[in-house]
Amino acid sequence: MFGGGVGLRLSTSLVAFLTLFSSLSNAQQPKNAKALGEVLGGIPDLSIYYNLLKNNTDILFEIPNLAGVTLLAPSNEAFNKSQDFQPDNTTYLTTLLKYHIIRGVINTQSLSVGPSIYAPTLLTSSDQTNVSTGQNVIITRQDEETTVITTGLGSRSTISDPADISFSGGLIQIIDTLLVPPAPLEKTARDAYKDLTGFLGALYSTDLVSTFSQSKDVTILAPRNSAFQKIASPLSSLTKEKLTSILKYHLIPNKIIPASSFFIPSANFTNGTLDSQEGKQVLVTRLGNNLFFNRAQLLQADVLISNGVIHIIDGVLNPDLEESQQVPEEDVKSQSVAFTQPVSGAQTSTGTKVPVPFTSYLPCTSDCPVTTTSSAEVEEATTTTRGGVSTRSSSGMGVMPRCTGVGGYVAAGVVGVGMGMGFVGAV
Ligand SMILES: *[C@@H]1O[C@H](CO)[C@@H](O)[C@H](O)[C@H]1NC(C)=O
Ligand SMILES: *[C@@H]1O[C@H](CO)[C@@H](O)[C@H](O)[C@H]1NC(C)=O
Ligand SMILES: *[C@@H]1O[C@H](CO)[C@@H](O)[C@H](O)[C@H]1NC(C)=O
Ligand SMILES: *[C@@H]1O[C@H](CO)[C@@H](O)[C@H](O)[C@H]1NC(C)=O
Ligand SMILES: *[C@@H]1O[C@H](CO)[C@@H](O)[C@H](O)[C@H]1NC(C)=O
Ligand SMILES: *[C@@H]1O[C@H](CO)[C@@H](O)[C@H](O)[C@H]1NC(C)=O
Repeated sequence: MFGGGVGLRLSTSLVAFLTLFSSLSNAQQPKNAKALGEVLGGIPDLSIYYNLLKNNTDILFEIPNLAGVTLLAPSNEAFNKSQDFQPDNTTYLTTLLKYHIIRGVINTQSLSVGPSIYAPTLLTSSDQTNVSTGQNVIITRQDEETTVITTGLGSRSTISDPADISFSGGLIQIIDTLLVPPAPLEKTARDAYKDLTGFLGALYSTDLVSTFSQSKDVTILAPRNSAFQKIASPLSSLTKEKLTSILKYHLIPNKIIPASSFFIPSANFTNGTLDSQEGKQVLVTRLGNNLFFNRAQLLQADVLISNGVIHIIDGVLNPDLEESQQVPEEDVKSQSVAFTQPVSGAQTSTGTKVPVPFTSYLPCTSDCPVTTTSSAEVEEATTTTRGGVSTRSSSGMGVMPRCTGVGGYVAAGVVGVGMGMGFVGAV
């Protein structure tokens, strides 16, 4: 039974919940596991979390109790240090609490060191996510002592000691930082992974943003900015239709594929193929610890967004090449670019001196003030290497408020804050 030592007034329904699990005969749990209230009440460092749960009993009742759950319980310090915590905002709190409950029991001792796993949470509302199993958190056991949870906008949290605290409905893991529910593609690319602004701009220029950011359960292969810079010249001569088909080749619909499954033969993706939205298949090749999609190398894996995941790659994929031209070279470093190499003297092979194509299509934000049409035209006229589709003026994009293009220059060659946090090759 719920211990009498907690000394808090609880609603009848909450008492019912907090004691519920003790009456279940869950084979995964030790027979003597305590009820949730008793366990949480006994950990002073979880008092803020415990009080929040007690105020949000509706969430507790959603827990699929028979299967068991893992509560990712932020410590008091995690709440105290958060800049985003809004204790009086019910919408925010509901989202936050649901995203901190995993469906299923995750025991850190049973995770193998290296490969990341995706664990679905109770966050399913379509206002917040379009991941049909419930938005994921990514869990990585880095070494015997350290287990990290990666969530939206490149944020990371660490499971504190003691780990694997059992209660009658599953496990509690204390975490040192609040998890961030993954944001839409647009915000993720603009605010956290600025190396994807060229890709995002290309999606805006072809009206594909909602296809990529609102379809349920997607895997996106997103070329970094330098991949677009390298082929700025061939890109600038493409029609909007052609660019649309190229971009759709980077969308794998109806599947959220963790990078670790590309490395695990039993998942059938290693040296296999992916069905793209464009219709043609993308080859997946593992060469040692390097992974290639056609000839583009995986640079950063597992960037969670509200409708799935992005894997960042170093080249733009071309659906029109023969299969023999898509197979990567065995020598990892010698992959060719999938489009005609640029010839203009204004461009360099590394592309870093070329403005990032398509960034002028990004809608303006407060950081990027709306410019008048005339100054945007002047800017364009003097920027001969700017990429873009040849149908631009007829597509109606010309009248859209847009950024001055300065953002594109600033982003050139700058690695997004999230880069370097991935584990590519570590599995
Ligand atoms: C619980 O809800 C009440 C009333 O809405 C509020 O006054 C109190 O501050 C809340 N407690 C916590 C810990 O959020
Ligand atoms: C959190 O902040 C409150 C007041 O702002 C303070 O009383 C409390 O000691 C802090 N707790 C931790 C764990 O930092
Ligand atoms: C409450 O949180 C929601 C979701 O995070 C947010 O959209 C909304 O603006 C917040 N409301 C206030 C008053 O801050
Ligand atoms: C989920 O998709 C629907 C349309 O299919 C859209 O209205 C909603 O905004 C999407 N949610 C998010 C978080 O992007
Ligand atoms: C991989 O392919 C084999 C043989 O086609 C099949 O039996 C197995 O279920 C597949 N594995 C997955 C994870 O789809
Ligand atoms: C995948 O294919 C490449 C080249 O075709 C080959 O070198 C490699 O051994 C293959 N890997 C696996 C796991 O089959």
